[in-house]
Amino acid sequence: MRRVQAARFTRGAQVDKLIENLSCVGRNPVAIHEHIFATVDGIVGAFAWGDTYAAEQFKDEFIHVINESLALLSSFSTEDFFPGAAGRMVDRLTGLVSRREKIFGMLDGFFERVLDQYMDPARGNKPGDDSSRSNLVQELIDIWREQGATKHITRDHVKAILMDTFVGGNNTSSVTMHWAMSELIRHPAELKKVQDEIRGAVGDKERVQHDDMPKLKYLRMVVKETMRLHPPATLLVPRLTTRQIKVGGYDIPANMKVIVNAWAIGRDPNVWENPEEFFPERFQESDIDFNGAHFELVPFGAGRRICPGLAMGVANVEFILANLLYCFNWELPDGVRGEDVSMEEEGSLTFHKKIPLMVVPTRFRMSPK
Ligand code: HEM
Repeated sequence: MRRVQAARFTRGAQVDKLIENLSCVGRNPVAIHEHIFATVDGIVGAFAWGDTYAAEQFKDEFIHVINESLALLSSFSTEDFFPGAAGRMVDRLTGLVSRREKIFGMLDGFFERVLDQYMDPARGNKPGDDSSRSNLVQELIDIWREQGATKHITRDHVKAILMDTFVGGNNTSSVTMHWAMSELIRHPAELKKVQDEIRGAVGDKERVQHDDMPKLKYLRMVVKETMRLHPPATLLVPRLTTRQIKVGGYDIPANMKVIVNAWAIGRDPNVWENPEEFFPERFQESDIDFNGAHFELVPFGAGRRICPGLAMGVANVEFILANLLYCFNWELPDGVRGEDVSMEEEGSLTFHKKIPLMVVPTRFRMSPK
């Protein structure tokens, strides 16, 4: 939570940049997901790497390595379905194993270099020195060094946590906002309702401030409804049973890969009335939340493996969305109607909108009373 608060400044600065960029496009359609992605990337990047992330060369190399790893993670592996020597042999023959080793080498080499830079005494960062605590890399290095002989966290853990933060943090939040904007533009009454709420609560300001956020109840319902219909991590993260268990009357042996379909859970007609309909008001009288306590809605997972970035993810999505809706009026390009906006999905690890949403933003300012 402390870190979520600390991210406020970065989040505000990135949102200022987003508003400035969108204010310059004139009356032209924009691919809104590109702007949203750049904003989230700036926030998560600064959170993990601090100032290092501002350097273009660092960013380009990092994004290249991550994209290669994601493509590999989502590719088909025979060994996943036929564990053992035979499956591994097929993966060797198809070249998957050598590709995996090459990409692992790239990724590991990248993280090694970053850690070496951070730990270089010439950098002047010492554990306990306040100036060194500005980002996740430095905090993890401090924890790792301070443990001494107990060694619960190793250099490999630090690298894995950094990797998970990027893979888990960037795409999921951007995809959620892309879906939210698409649903709202197809539902003008809900779009107006949420904009009226935000503008009424915020009043005449340059943009929404963090302190305004608790007042935006309908916006929260819009975000929940978007995540119910479009959980970005559609199948969560695969689990492995540690012992034989019974789930819903089925016997599941130990060591089985279990995949949870969060998308189907959010559209279960036994739980949700008119499940295919975008209807944020369904949360008005309901206490169902996505915090892991309600198994009807699990876009962040549940249990011990629930998303550790939940608070930051929700804060990013709600704050960026609130500002997009407060600062701009949104229209579809000439000749495009709401029902023409495709809601087709595609993906592997995360599912996103197949055809990007194109919208025309017009800067909105409250008229002085
Ligand atoms: C809308 C935003 C987000 C959504 C929908 C989301 C969703 C998820 C889901 C479904 C999981 C798997 C949980 C499970 O299987 O039970 C996960 C894991 C994870 N998320 Fe998020 N996430 C979001 C934002 C973030 C952010 C902002 C961060 C960090 C800055 C983050 C970091 C992680 C990490 C590190 C894991 C892996 C945990 C593990 O290995 O067990 N996520 N996330």
